Amino acid sequence: MEPASIQRENAQLRETWEQYSAEHLDTYLVAGVEDPRINIQSILTRAFLADALFPERFTALIHEELRFGTVLLWLREQFEANANRDELREAICFTRAPHIPPFVAEAARWLEADTCPLPHYIELALDPPPADAPEQLLPGRALDVFGPVWRRELAGLTAPRLRVFEAACGSANDYRTIHAHGLAPFLDYTGLDISEKNIANALARFPDAAFRAGSILATGLPDAAFDCVFAHDLLEHLSAAGGAIALGEMVRLARREVWLHLFNTRPDGAHDIIPKEQYHWNRLSLAALREAGVALGCAVDNIEIAPLLRHKFGLCDYYNPHAATLILKKNA
Ligand SMILES: C[S@@+](CC[C@H](N)C(=O)[O-])C[C@H]1O[C@@H](n2cnc3c(N)ncnc32)[C@H](O)[C@@H]1O
Repeated sequence: MEPASIQRENAQLRETWEQYSAEHLDTYLVAGVEDPRINIQSILTRAFLADALFPERFTALIHEELRFGTVLLWLREQFEANANRDELREAICFTRAPHIPPFVAEAARWLEADTCPLPHYIELALDPPPADAPEQLLPGRALDVFGPVWRRELAGLTAPRLRVFEAACGSANDYRTIHAHGLAPFLDYTGLDISEKNIANALARFPDAAFRAGSILATGLPDAAFDCVFAHDLLEHLSAAGGAIALGEMVRLARREVWLHLFNTRPDGAHDIIPKEQYHWNRLSLAALREAGVALGCAVDNIEIAPLLRHKFGLCDYYNPHAATLILKKNA
């Protein structure tokens, strides 16, 4: 039996997400910059899975997919600012205009090369979005480019199945792209979410997958039940005590690694725990999380997403300067 404070927090968290319609839950976190096909932290989750299964085999492909995500996010921003698609095509693909960021121009050059195995995703992205959903800004044919590439690369490979647990899986928000990219057959995947509507949505898409309703604050699952555990955008929404319990629970469930994707962090200091209605909207300290991870027996690395993309591609204005990913390695 959990303490009353945890029962209260679980009830409030459940109420917070259950107030939305099933349709809203199914769509709101997989669109725009959150679309797991281009969201950098979603690409990282798939990269970590691929690397855990096939160490270092896909380093070049992962780099290409991160570049794809970065270029499509940049293009999306231009469309959001009402850039003219034909003018943009001219500037990127033909005149190589000086206002086009070098990483976009370089990607276009690479996509035009005879040796490039990828479809020209910039050309595809510059096509108009579907007439019945112009708000999508990016056409599905561009967003879907890397699914078939991964499926082709993974076809015929074998590896011991990786036991994976996702906390706060939403309506299979990330799993749908993990599946579309051909990674699912290599995984024994379990997804947990506190919202029963989310779990019903996830099971409607993937009736044979292990999606279950429950709270990360008390999973009842055995120690080291999974090789890898991950969560996107969860800890910011928990109380200070809840966040500490959730981190401890994820570390306890993992045999090897925990990947914590966060959207609202700062490098140092203490956590800013900010109650909002029935839940929280915290700004978490990477230093404090690292310290907590070390106290739980892990070696901890963190990747700040904006500096990562600046370093890799020269992107200077990533839309979320507070996004970061923590990698906790057990038994280090
Ligand atoms: C911001 S959403 C993120 C969803 C998904 N991970 C994504 O990135 O698209 C937070 C999710 O956490 C779930 N959640 C909140 N508290 C939880 C808890 N204690 N245990 C499990 N899931 C929880 C919510 O139902 C919601 O689906």
